[in-house]
Amino acid sequence: MPAQLAIDGGSPAIGERLPSIRDASGRSLGAEEMEQLREVIESGSLSFLYGGKTQEFETAFAELYGVEHAVSVSSGTAALHTALLYLNPEPGDEVILSPITDMGTAIPILSQLAIPVFADVDRDTQAIDPRSIEEKITDRTRAIIVTHIYGNPADMDAIMAIAARHDLFVIEDCAQALLATDKGRLCGTMGDIGCFSFQQSKHMTTGDGGMVIAREDGRFGRRLRQCADKGWPRDQGGRNHLFLAPNYHMTELQAAVGLAQLRKLPGMVERRIHSAGQLTAALQGLDVEPVRIREGTTGTFFFYGFRLFPERLGVPVPQVMKALQAEGVDGFIGYPGPIPLYKYPVIRDHKTFGNSGWPFTLACARNWNYADAICPVAEQACRETVCMWWTEGFSQEQPQQIAAAIAKVLDAYRR
Ligand SMILES: Cc1ncc(COP(=O)(O)O)c(C=O)c1O
Repeated sequence: MPAQLAIDGGSPAIGERLPSIRDASGRSLGAEEMEQLREVIESGSLSFLYGGKTQEFETAFAELYGVEHAVSVSSGTAALHTALLYLNPEPGDEVILSPITDMGTAIPILSQLAIPVFADVDRDTQAIDPRSIEEKITDRTRAIIVTHIYGNPADMDAIMAIAARHDLFVIEDCAQALLATDKGRLCGTMGDIGCFSFQQSKHMTTGDGGMVIAREDGRFGRRLRQCADKGWPRDQGGRNHLFLAPNYHMTELQAAVGLAQLRKLPGMVERRIHSAGQLTAALQGLDVEPVRIREGTTGTFFFYGFRLFPERLGVPVPQVMKALQAEGVDGFIGYPGPIPLYKYPVIRDHKTFGNSGWPFTLACARNWNYADAICPVAEQACRETVCMWWTEGFSQEQPQQIAAAIAKVLDAYRR
């Protein structure tokens, strides 16, 4: 007899609430952040214009990543927009991305009146599939945004080879992949520009916040910073605005927290990887399939994702998820949800600039198609993947408890 599920009145497999990225239980925020913040408050300078924390944070981040440029910004979306502003596409140019990512990856493309073109993902890793990228390239393609989804490095060698063949710019979206590596190379340093998010749920947090990084190779110079600073070349003295760009500054308060968090980052990432490894071991033998991490890479587990097999379950996937939640599992079905990015109204129904439908309706725009099933592998992944919030705060026992909760639910619902 399977144990009575919590959803049916039984006792939950996970007795205590799991540590959560939503609050102090799953976040490492404490005395170090308070001390940094105190310094900023006492200085009275909350802006990068007069304080030094923002610059200190950028320098520390650039050192950690071994790059020449680090520009702090107000969010991961702002980081990606800054990168795209640097590229400066023409209206109607196309940018290839994965449909398994946050809307923050697509918003900058639309904001620049460029066209998001979705490539499908690899079934096992759920990362953008290089073969699909190549199929989607046209004479209007300017860039590829590669999201290292769940913290797992995408196949950058293959993607960079395609980019070189077609002369495309590559932006790495590392919002979920702080300190992830591919053959020892950090995600964010393999493409042209790397973008990061420090939003509440990320490996380190400043509440909201982000960073853009690049190696100096003769291209970036001062312009990258101007893309997040109203097109203003402040280092030339006086006021000037060279091109259209927003104000995406990070505040000194965010940078203060960021500095303290950055020092803890390697330890926090290590703990995420450790507890994820424990869970993977505990899931062996269960009828689930953890999202695969490519050989030679280190995934840093923003989420822990695993696949269900609906054909072997007696109830629909959303019912399984509800039962898992009742057992104490902190997760949901599919990322960015049970549907991929192109099915949200902003893209599918062109909810953009007034009623204009720009950029889709621009005469210069071609090649967009957001019909159902344009990326069938991604659509299936969104329907069948359980994404669990992961944190550095799990105890030694909690991964086992999560596995026990999953086993209990599968046992009850096995067909
Ligand atoms: C893969 C990915 N890209 C972009 C973003 C956007 O970052 P932010 O929420 O900081 O704007 C996120 C954050 O949720 C993300 O996970």
